Amino acid sequence: MSLLKRLGGSPEPAAPVAPVPPATERVNEYRSSSLTPLAPPPPPPSMEARPSGGGLSALTASATSSATPLMGTDGETQMKMLELSLWVLDKIQASVGTQTQLTRSEESERMIQERFSTFVRQSNSNLDQDQSKQLYQMVLDEMFGFGPLEQLIRDDSVTEIMVNASDVVYVEQKGNITLSHVKFASDDHVLKIIDRIIRPLGRRIDRKWPMVDARLPDGSRVNAIIPPCAIDGPSISIRKFSKKKLQASDLISYGSMTKEMAEFLRACVVSAMNIVVSGGTGSGKTTLLNVLSNFIPDKYRICTIEDSAELQLGKEHVIRLESKPADIDGSGLVTIRDLVKNSLRMRPDRIVVGEIRDGAALDLLQAMNTGHDGSMSTVHANTPRDAIRRLETLAMMSGLDLPVTVIREQIASAVHVIVQQARLRDGSRKVVAITEVQGMESGQVTLQDIFTFDDQGDTPDGKVMGVLKPTGTRPKFTPILEQHGFKLPPSIFGATFPGQRR
Ligand SMILES: Nc1ncnc2c1ncn2[C@@H]1O[C@H](COP(=O)(O)OP(=O)(O)OP(=O)(O)O)[C@@H](O)[C@H]1O
Ligand SMILES: [Mg+2]
Repeated sequence: MSLLKRLGGSPEPAAPVAPVPPATERVNEYRSSSLTPLAPPPPPPSMEARPSGGGLSALTASATSSATPLMGTDGETQMKMLELSLWVLDKIQASVGTQTQLTRSEESERMIQERFSTFVRQSNSNLDQDQSKQLYQMVLDEMFGFGPLEQLIRDDSVTEIMVNASDVVYVEQKGNITLSHVKFASDDHVLKIIDRIIRPLGRRIDRKWPMVDARLPDGSRVNAIIPPCAIDGPSISIRKFSKKKLQASDLISYGSMTKEMAEFLRACVVSAMNIVVSGGTGSGKTTLLNVLSNFIPDKYRICTIEDSAELQLGKEHVIRLESKPADIDGSGLVTIRDLVKNSLRMRPDRIVVGEIRDGAALDLLQAMNTGHDGSMSTVHANTPRDAIRRLETLAMMSGLDLPVTVIREQIASAVHVIVQQARLRDGSRKVVAITEVQGMESGQVTLQDIFTFDDQGDTPDGKVMGVLKPTGTRPKFTPILEQHGFKLPPSIFGATFPGQRR
């Protein structure tokens, strides 16, 4: 239900909910054709009278800096707070004039604080001190930030935010996905926030092209999709940018891989093996690619190519490239494939491609086969065998009419190692296989697992039990690792000498 309907306001269009310039024509096009107009400033939503604590005078600067713990509070109160915050916001905006766009400064905040106090008093809402602070924060979030999303963006324990509908917002914390108590007032409210995210980036979303990729100022990856494709209303998915990227040591301590696996992978990277990280959505592919890329010795010139820059390489000699969507007139598209081709003219020692999801696969395979050893990428697949099939399919999308056996040969000679990453049923992420691509046999690519995860079921509290272990097979490319100075002991691979106990 729209805010307007819930509050019983009149249906005439009036001032926008928040003091931002009106949403773009494109969003308006969607709005006017499919949604109720935004509500006029309604009568103040009634807040249940509560014993007044510190009241509004208790608002302090701390309200602007601390995260408001809304999750876990009662849903109805939450909605009333949201409605009240939007009402106060309307009043503040009306008092400064709808043409004035406020920017955040000490002066504007002082002014907002004063008016906030006045309008909350007018609303006759008896708020306790915590509620006052919370309401003030909500007003600021709506005014200068991304509205209800802000509290989740501030909360470092939240790694993913999924807005399924205006009143259904899921979050991921510690690998577990749960329904949060965060809500938007209406579909229009969600649209307004989408618009606020994409407008500074010059991106578009409308009925003709109702989906968009974008990034928040902090680097978080955003996808938004709206009707008619999103049936239940505008939807937003945010992969939060982790301020501190996980390191190899973190993955070892989380049990995502063993020390031996990390040691082996480092040897592979330094020895310029071509590596493909395979995994499902959100399984930790990019995180692992980042870890692997950081194993690249400092002396090498690295070229990273991504759709939305996520990799954080602590390296000096890096050139970061990002693909570019088409402009409004449909021109100006720059694909991963274009960038892979271009990167070959940039004298890279190593090419790291965020994810291969189109014909760029063939260009990358060819690069790997023609002297750009030590290149890496990720592919969306559930097993190493699937990763090979997926690479085949993607290479066929290149438009070059190559027979499948030729493509397979390209894969078999280009890719040395597939690292399979998985998000397990308890939410934990693990490297569940490190597999060598050994070559071709009877027209098929031959694979040999070097490390695997032995899944042993669940503990009573739902945690996955199991062990990561070597298979006992040394990779065929061991001599190359040795040429690069890696004399890995047989025990790393679980190999035993005659008479030695495992
Ligand atoms: N080994 C791990 N242990 C715990 N958390 C992890 C691990 N690897 C990744 N994560 C977290 O999981 C989330 C998803 O990771 P990441 O972006 O690397 O996945 P992805 O497979 O690249 O996702 P997508 O398919 O959307 O590109 C991030 O929040 C990341 O910090
Ligand atoms: Mg990724």
